[in-house]
Amino acid sequence: MTPIELVNLAKEARAHAYVPYSGYAVGAALLCADGTVYQGCNIENASYSPTVCAERVAVFKAVYDGHRDFAAIAVVGGKAGEEITGLFPPCGVCRQVLREFCGLDFKLYLGKENNEFVETTLGDLLPMSFSKADMK
Ligand code: THU
Repeated sequence: MTPIELVNLAKEARAHAYVPYSGYAVGAALLCADGTVYQGCNIENASYSPTVCAERVAVFKAVYDGHRDFAAIAVVGGKAGEEITGLFPPCGVCRQVLREFCGLDFKLYLGKENNEFVETTLGDLLPMSFSKADMK
């Protein structure tokens, strides 16, 4: 699975987004260590706070199925029904959820326009993070 293939799976997932309130559709594709990929989209709610981000949907689907070892995630987002025009970086809550299962070297591929993406790591996005290693 190449990074751009993972980004394309995130774009595919984005088409499933349920976003009647924000109008921003987000897709994620989470690559497990064994090569399995889980896709997620954001799912909004009339009461707003129950809204779940695309990244967490992908992580929770994977964990439910017994996966806890992850290699990378691709994330794309932008106005629903339009091509993506720039980065849509993971929110703080999703960064923390990823940290539960992923090391600081976990890779993130953030899709942008023209089939380009930015590669980063969880360590870069969540410096000095709190994790289970701190629960001593
Ligand atoms: N959203 C995600 O799906 N992932 C993120 O990491 C950032 C935000 C969603 C939540 C909401 O449905 C919409 O984008 C606008 O905030």
